[in-house]
Amino acid sequence: MSPATMSTQSPIDFISQSDEQTRLAGEHLGSACRGGEVFWLSGPLGAGKTVLTQGIARGLGIEKTVTSPTFTVLKEYAGRLNLYHFDFYRLETQTRDPWAEFSDYLQPDAVCVVEWAEHGEEFLGERYLRVNLRYISSGKRAIQLVAYGSEYFDLLRRFQAMAFRA
Ligand SMILES: Nc1ncnc2c1ncn2[C@@H]1O[C@H](COP(=O)(O)OP(=O)(O)O)[C@@H](O)[C@H]1O
Ligand SMILES: [Mg+2]
Repeated sequence: MSPATMSTQSPIDFISQSDEQTRLAGEHLGSACRGGEVFWLSGPLGAGKTVLTQGIARGLGIEKTVTSPTFTVLKEYAGRLNLYHFDFYRLETQTRDPWAEFSDYLQPDAVCVVEWAEHGEEFLGERYLRVNLRYISSGKRAIQLVAYGSEYFDLLRRFQAMAFRA
């Protein structure tokens, strides 16, 4: 992993060369969490959203294997902080009010990760970490971390200290 620039905390851009590298980046994000965080993951099918979430879970001390919640919309995992893993891919087919449900999960001792943020932009609050994943080639992905809210700048500083230390 090599950061495009070390001086700015947001956005952070880097290339992941393997799924394990993406998982490791996720693990650092998870380790940097203090509770109440929201991650909005954006990128096409196969971009690595679920792989990154598996790493976030690892960083939250979750031992259970994280799998895609595509057909269930939400999966919950218990850890150092609880993980609520959403997938909004099929959100338009849901009949219930997703925001009323989503806001219930914004808890100080939990972390919310949402795949397919682009299917739920209208539910986006003002403070979150946006993660844009882009397919480059079979093993390579471009990952961009964008902070919205001062606490996410702080989170990215902690992330950077772990991910890019010499
Ligand atoms: N650098 C990489 N980062 C993440 N996934 C990668 C990478 N290289 C290859 N892959 C593969 O791409 C796929 C990503 O799948 P997944 O995380 O389920 O995508 P999404 O949730 O975005 O649809 C996995 O099969 C993974 O092994
Ligand atoms: Mg997925």
